[in-house]
Amino acid sequence: MAKYFTPKELERELRERSPESERLIRSLHNCDRRHFLKVSAQFAAMAAAAGVIQPHGFQLVEMAYAATEPEKAPEVAFTFAYVSDTHLYARGMTHRFAKAVAKAVEDVNALDPQPDFVFYGGDLAQLGRADELELGRQILKDVKAPMKMMVGEHDWYFDMGEKWKEFFGPDRYSFDHKGVHFVTLNSVVEKDFWTAKGYTPEERMHIVAGLDDGRQSRFEVGEEQRAWLKDDLAKVNKKTPIVVFSHSPLYKYYEPWNFWTADAEQVQALLFPFQSVTVIHGHTHQLLTNRIKNISFHGMLSTAWPWPYAPTGLPKLTLQMDRPNPFDQFDGCGDGSVDVLKSGQADANYNLWDRSPVTVSYAELVKGIKGGGPSY
Ligand SMILES: [Fe+2]
Ligand SMILES: [Fe+2]
Repeated sequence: MAKYFTPKELERELRERSPESERLIRSLHNCDRRHFLKVSAQFAAMAAAAGVIQPHGFQLVEMAYAATEPEKAPEVAFTFAYVSDTHLYARGMTHRFAKAVAKAVEDVNALDPQPDFVFYGGDLAQLGRADELELGRQILKDVKAPMKMMVGEHDWYFDMGEKWKEFFGPDRYSFDHKGVHFVTLNSVVEKDFWTAKGYTPEERMHIVAGLDDGRQSRFEVGEEQRAWLKDDLAKVNKKTPIVVFSHSPLYKYYEPWNFWTADAEQVQALLFPFQSVTVIHGHTHQLLTNRIKNISFHGMLSTAWPWPYAPTGLPKLTLQMDRPNPFDQFDGCGDGSVDVLKSGQADANYNLWDRSPVTVSYAELVKGIKGGGPSY
C-alpha cells in the first residue's frame, strides 16, 4: 500500500534519504519555472525510487513550488484545467478509456489550489450514442471545480448534437472571467454530405469518426456561427485578453485527417484586432503549438490515445513528443492546465501520464517567432 506524505513530510523524507535531494531542493531557490518543472520531475523519480509515492505528479509539482518559493508565481492570474478527447464506448467502467477519464478526474480534483474551472475539449463519446454521452456525464460529475463543455465531431454526428445539447447546453457560448473574454465554438460543422447519398445516422457517424474517410466534408465554424462570433466580439474591448476554445485547430494543419478548419482564415481575421488571443483546441491528441500573428494555439492532450504527427510536418514552434511506447496504454495521453498570466497571455501545461510534465510558456513561444503569418 503506498504511503502518502504531506509536502513537508515528503521534503524531510527525501532530505534524509538522499544527499542528491538536498542539492535539488537548494537549487529551487530563485529558479525559473522551467528549472522548477525539471527538478519536480527529478523529485518524482527519486520519490518513486525511494518508495515515497505521491498520489500523482501534480501534487508533487505544487508541493515543491509551495515548499520553496511561494512568491515566484506572481505572473499567473488564474488557472483552469482541461480534460479532452476521451472517446468513450458504453462498455462500463472496466473499459480502458473509461478508466483513463476517471484518472483525469482524479488528477484535476487533486490540484491544490483548485483550478477556477475545468474545461472539457470535445469527443466525450466515440460514436455519439446517448449511452456513451451518459457514461461521460456520470464520470465528469465527480469533478469538483465547475465544468465547461465543448463538443467534438464524435459527439455530434449520430443525432446532430441533440443529446449532447440536452446534457450540456449550447454548443457555442461566451463568458467573462477575471478580465478575460472566453469563447467556446463548435468548429466541427460539416456541409451536408449525407442526405443526397442516403446515409443513415450510424453511417454518417462512422464516416465522420473515420479520420481519413474521404466521403465527409471538412470541418468549419460556418457562416452563421462566424456572424455570431463577430457580434460577440464587437462588444469586447480590443485590449481585453481573448481565449477561444475550438475542437479542431483554428488553422490548417493536415487536411486528409481533418486536422483542419476550412474557414480558419475568416475566424482568425475576427481575432487579429485583439491584443492577446489564445486558442486552446482538442482533436489532435498531441503536444501541438503554433502562432499566427497575435494568436497562440495550443492542442490539448487526449486521455484515450495519442495521434501521430502529420506526415507533412508540424508547426515549427511545437515541442515534439517522442513516439509513445505502444506497450504502455497511457503513454502519450494525459490532461493538463492553462495558466492565464496577468498580461492576458497563457502558458500551457501538459500533464503527460507516465512522462515528465511539459510547459509551453508564452515567453518561450514568442522568442521562436520570426515574423507574422503562418509559422510553418
Ligand atoms: Fe478526438
Ligand atoms: Fe475530434
